[in-house]
Amino acid sequence: MKSRRVALVGLGIGRQHAAAYRALAGRFEIAAVCARSEVSARKAANDFGAQHALTNFDDVLQLPNIDIIDLCTPPHLHVEQALAALHTGHHVICEKPVAADVADIDRLAAAEAACGRWLMPIFQYRFGAGLGTLLDLQARGLTGDPLLATVEVHWRRRADYYHVPWRGRIETELGGVLTSQAVHAIDALTCAFGNVRRVAAFAATAINPVEVEDNAVVSLQMCNGALVTISATLGSGAEITRHRFVFRNLVAESNTRPYSNCEGPWTFTSDDVEHATTLRQALAEIEAVRGNFSAAATENKAVNAAVNANEASMLNGYTPPVGFEPQMRAFADALDMEQPPPVTIMDARRSVMLLSAIYDSVRSGEIIELPRLNL
Ligand SMILES: NC(=O)c1ccc[n+]([C@@H]2O[C@H](COP(=O)([O-])OP(=O)(O)OC[C@H]3O[C@@H](n4cnc5c(N)ncnc54)[C@H](O)[C@@H]3O)[C@@H](O)[C@H]2O)c1
Repeated sequence: MKSRRVALVGLGIGRQHAAAYRALAGRFEIAAVCARSEVSARKAANDFGAQHALTNFDDVLQLPNIDIIDLCTPPHLHVEQALAALHTGHHVICEKPVAADVADIDRLAAAEAACGRWLMPIFQYRFGAGLGTLLDLQARGLTGDPLLATVEVHWRRRADYYHVPWRGRIETELGGVLTSQAVHAIDALTCAFGNVRRVAAFAATAINPVEVEDNAVVSLQMCNGALVTISATLGSGAEITRHRFVFRNLVAESNTRPYSNCEGPWTFTSDDVEHATTLRQALAEIEAVRGNFSAAATENKAVNAAVNANEASMLNGYTPPVGFEPQMRAFADALDMEQPPPVTIMDARRSVMLLSAIYDSVRSGEIIELPRLNL
């Protein structure tokens, strides 16, 4: 196992990435940090034991012996910074959204191939134990066909959230609640239900005086025929994120913690006694590996109630998401084995295509058909 030297660019959510690297000492080393403020860069370098504290991205590109450039910068900078990082021989980790349109994703994919380096988009919610358990049950053939799903991303963002200048503007944030907040929940949906065939959507700016949408509903018909509704708002005084997946042979329900609903506990319910027994056995096997979820609905209700009580003080506030460590660990494993990263540029492409179709539907009032994806 090799330790990779990382240059961390951007120190908002970047600090959470740093926590993951530090938890994975021996696999990663933070060699440099970069932010626009010299004071923050110096403080972060001191906190993380990084050799270099920089304020200019071009200087990051020139540093010797950097394996990975991790982009935690505002969305409108991602494409050009990622291209520059690939062309100077670095692997890239890039926060969401990687880009606003498919043409930019394709430029990045071409650069990846030409430079022989990887770009790993961040979709850390994929690595949660609850969603992972559902995917394991699917792989074991225990869910049956996907039939219907509901996805709710009901968060609260007040005016102060938009004091950061890049937020709230289409040119710099590249989208609103769907692109910035619901993007992870939509990614989790497509992990379990596959690709989307048709989209109908409405969106509005209803909560704050910004350019981007902050209130939206989306209906999807999936390629396998399953139907989905998504609702996403930044005006919910009680914050939740919830996935409810109806499969032919079971119903999977996430917990409702707004920033970690893909972690456990999830509930998996079957009304067929024999299948429920098989399910319990499979869950016990999976739990032995993953831990931290429950198969019993009654037990789960109690667990969720306790969690919500603990989180009451965080309602209306922003709590950073957890869970970058599993994605970074999986990336280190992939690099060691000379395999593609656990999340690829094609995953970002699928996400960008769907968001583009959603915005097309909002603008035109029409149902939008997606091209068949061959991912
Ligand atoms: N995966 C998640 O759950 C998650 C959560 C929050 C934010 N994000 C994403 O992370 C990205 C950053 O969001 P944030 O909330 O941390 O933003 P932020 O404004 O808090 O931080 C941005 C950082 O980038 C630095 N920066 C800005 N321009 C730069 C430049 N030209 N060169 C170098 N550094 C520069 C700033 O100094 C700052 O440190 C966004 O794309 C956002 O969507 C992802």
